[in-house]
Formats: sequence, C-alpha cells, structure tokens
Amino acid sequence: MLSKKIEQALNQQIELEASSSNYYLAMASWAEVQGINGVAAFLYGHSDEERMHMTKLIQYVNERGGHGIVPTIKAPPANYKSVSEVFDIVLSHETKVSKSINELVDLCLKEKDYSTHNFLQWYVTEQIEEESLARTNVDKLRLMGGEKAALYFFDRDLAGAKAKEAKQQKGEAK
Ligand code: FEO
Repeated sequence: MLSKKIEQALNQQIELEASSSNYYLAMASWAEVQGINGVAAFLYGHSDEERMHMTKLIQYVNERGGHGIVPTIKAPPANYKSVSEVFDIVLSHETKVSKSINELVDLCLKEKDYSTHNFLQWYVTEQIEEESLARTNVDKLRLMGGEKAALYFFDRDLAGAKAKEAKQQKGEAK
C-alpha cells in the first residue's frame, strides 16, 4: 500500500508526464503546419511516449492501492519561433523531468518505499536516454547555425530515425 505522501508525489509526476505529452503534441502540430514533417513525426512519437509514461504511473498507483488522477493541463503554446527553440524547450523540459524523478527516488528512500523505488528505476534509465537525445538534437541545430539547407537534412534525419524505430518495433530492422 502506498503512503499518502508517495501517492501524492506520484500524482504530481503523472501531471508532469501529461503536460510533457501535451507540450510535444503542440510542437508536433506546429512543425507539421510548417511542413517540417520529420520533426513533426519525431515529436508526435515523443508525445505518445510521454503518454505511455503517464499511463504506466497511473496503473502503478492503482495497483498499489492508491488512485492515479488524470490531471487538468494548461494549454501549451501553439506557436514557436523556430525548430531550435522547440528543441531548446524539449531539453529544458526533459532536464526538469529528470530532476523530478530524482526527487521522487529520494523521497522513496526517505519513506522506505523500496517497491516504488524499484519501479522508478525504469524512469531513471529512460530519462538518461531522453536527455541525451534532446541534447544531441540541440547540438546538431547549434552546429547548423540556423541554415535553411541544413534544416532540410536535419528534418530528413529525424524522419529516417522515426521510420527505423517503427521498423524495429515491428521487428523488421536489423
Ligand atoms: Fe517522461 Fe520525457 O519524461
């Protein structure tokens, strides 16, 4: 059984994952409207992943005798200045999520909730990957220095990465 304190902290994390999903969805829609389809596909996929992170938490809270609450979320911005701005936001958002997960892990140790501590290890690993991916994209965009031609290749790169990931999920890629 979860303590009220842990249940509340997990519900806050549910809210953060839900707002991440919504944020990336808004960015994906913006990129699609701009015709930057590789970036859009990447962000749609990322939004789906965040929704999965949220659902996994809701189900865990419920499994442990608590109640996973679906939150109300503030609308994210609809418009962005550039792809660089989008990825800067993604990186700072992911850094915030990592910090929040680390604080949750810390709370579990203080409360001696080793089951939740164990459950959260999946998120710790996931955040290392997500932060590193976000940082790679920010670095690439910085190297491009806002060049339009380079953005074409960046977009194609992300579209290719998305297609490869889809194939891997279906077990088709080597
Ligand atoms: Fe689920 Fe990227 O935070």
